[in-house]
Amino acid sequence: MQNPFKPTAGATPPDLVGRAGLLDEFEYGLRQGSGAPGLLTIITGARGIGKTVMLSAAEEIARNHGWAVISRTANPGFLAKIGDDMLRLLDELGDGPPARKITAFSAAGFGLTTQLPGSAFPTGVGPERSCWACCKQKVQAWSSPLTRSTRSTARKSPSWPPTCSISSVKGCPSALSSRGSSAVSDLLNEGVATFLRRADRINLHEAAITEVTASYRELFSRSGIDVSHAHITEAAEATEGYPFLIQLVGYYLWMEADKAGWTLNEENVQMAIAASQRRNTLVVVESALSDISEKDRAFLDAMAEQDGASTAAQIGQAIGSKPNVVSKYRNRLIAAGLIESAGYGKVDFAIPGLRQYLRS
Ligand SMILES: Nc1ncnc2c1ncn2[C@@H]1O[C@H](COP(=O)(O)OP(=O)(O)OP(=O)(O)O)[C@@H](O)[C@H]1O
Ligand SMILES: [Mg+2]
Repeated sequence: MQNPFKPTAGATPPDLVGRAGLLDEFEYGLRQGSGAPGLLTIITGARGIGKTVMLSAAEEIARNHGWAVISRTANPGFLAKIGDDMLRLLDELGDGPPARKITAFSAAGFGLTTQLPGSAFPTGVGPERSCWACCKQKVQAWSSPLTRSTRSTARKSPSWPPTCSISSVKGCPSALSSRGSSAVSDLLNEGVATFLRRADRINLHEAAITEVTASYRELFSRSGIDVSHAHITEAAEATEGYPFLIQLVGYYLWMEADKAGWTLNEENVQMAIAASQRRNTLVVVESALSDISEKDRAFLDAMAEQDGASTAAQIGQAIGSKPNVVSKYRNRLIAAGLIESAGYGKVDFAIPGLRQYLRS
């Protein structure tokens, strides 16, 4: 039997645990059309919490409603790539290139430049707007409007498009994902993407253990794998509800069951949990720590001294820094998806296994 679990970044899991209803407003908005709240949605959360998977789910919903989907990561030059995607879709959905032929897209730093025949621009409309508009017109004529989901990079991206370009896609349903909600706040405060302030926010958290248990029980019993309720619960608890661990633990449970003739006992379950924790350390914890500065690391070490959330004062004292410096590193680490706000002035780790790793 094929292992259904997908412990890989961005891979759609066999069951979307704990996310029921989160995209209902987006779907409802698709039926209502332009201007509906929910059409513009920002998804935030820690590393591996399932942002990319949620974007894919939103894309799937849009496709099922007859929309053409463009999905791009917001790195340098992404606007030009969206333009290319639009042209390709126009060719696929329409009867050839649009009447006002777009001759070129090129990305220069922040911007997007297009070359249209001079006479093609309607008065008072810049080339970018004109270009988006005609693409939309054409696609809408084929009753398949365009949705665009933009995936932002982990940190505030210098490649974020200028207002003229982003405002010109207003009216298209969009989902955007970003690690850490403070990265999004920075983006919104910059004023470059003011219409994003009206966006719906979905901040993803861990799933409840009972939901993980129910999901495992369903997946294993459907495949005839013999495992007790106590063992399923034990495995679900080891995931801490963290999506990447849900996939890792499930994957190794399945592997152990395969080796043991489709049955799982205490020993198999323990082996699976240990294997998934090792893999989580390697893939998530160590990789997350590999690109942070010494000062970031000192901040995290100070947090690891506490058993729960840490206050800014505790951290400041441990690393010998003033509140404004503590606040700067706090925001950086939240944006990197390593820590999260835990009530007023407090932070806690956002990745399971990080505290234990730092202590060891
Ligand atoms: N709701 C869910 N239920 C079960 N597994 C999930 C869920 N969401 C995501 N996963 C799994 O968790 C892992 C991480 O998902 P994903 O790559 O979407 O996270 P992410 O938040 O985009 O991570 P990153 O911050 O690294 O970009 C994948 O293996 C995915 O299959
Ligand atoms: Mg992702």
